Amino acid sequence: MWEERYAKSGDYLFGEQPAQVLVENPWMIDGASTCLCVADGEGRNAVWLAGQGLSVTSFDLSPTAVGRARELAAKSDVQVDSHVSDWDGWDWSQAFDLVVAIYVQFMWPEERKKQFETLRRAVRPGGRIILHGYTPEQIEFGTGGPPNPENMYTTKLLSEGFGDWRILRLAAYEREVQEGRGHSGQSALIDLVAEKPIT
Ligand SMILES: C[S@@+](CC[C@H](N)C(=O)[O-])C[C@H]1O[C@@H](n2cnc3c(N)ncnc32)[C@H](O)[C@@H]1O
Repeated sequence: MWEERYAKSGDYLFGEQPAQVLVENPWMIDGASTCLCVADGEGRNAVWLAGQGLSVTSFDLSPTAVGRARELAAKSDVQVDSHVSDWDGWDWSQAFDLVVAIYVQFMWPEERKKQFETLRRAVRPGGRIILHGYTPEQIEFGTGGPPNPENMYTTKLLSEGFGDWRILRLAAYEREVQEGRGHSGQSALIDLVAEKPIT
């Protein structure tokens, strides 16, 4: 479904600019050198992070999206180690200073536990995760994201998933988003930034 969606779209479905949350909260990447951008689509976040001086690895299941991500990196004169990979096919044993998961709400609740486990594994001890997505209120707005409230995040759900880490930011809020045709309009958002304990 994603490959088809990207192939049909002649341009960058989610735009070429990074998610606003990254640009508006530069502190979130402080101290990181290596970064993994999961399900990074057309590369807008990975390219911006590489432009901030991070060594960025990324993956997405859509070959068309990863092709666009490579073009965006070349055009932006940055290096990104980008891969075509399904979530389950990714080698989760490598740990990074920073893991960035932006709009990755394609998994159902029963798969999400495993998804969070893999994300947790990919952060090195003392490293951080940035998780950004929609709350169930987004269904009313209909301006992006999956059509099912079950896919969305709440502060309770994210606290349960990462409550044993040091929470640096956990916030649900509403705002206007303009991130390509895919994410456009008033939106119900949620951010988590959490640091993995060293022991
Ligand atoms: C809403 S888009 C977000 C893309 C990107 N993170 C961004 O913010 O622009 C969701 C992405 O998840 C990818 N995706 C969906 N299911 C996946 C899976 N099982 N494994 C890897 N990527 C997947 C899609 O190809 C798509 O690029």
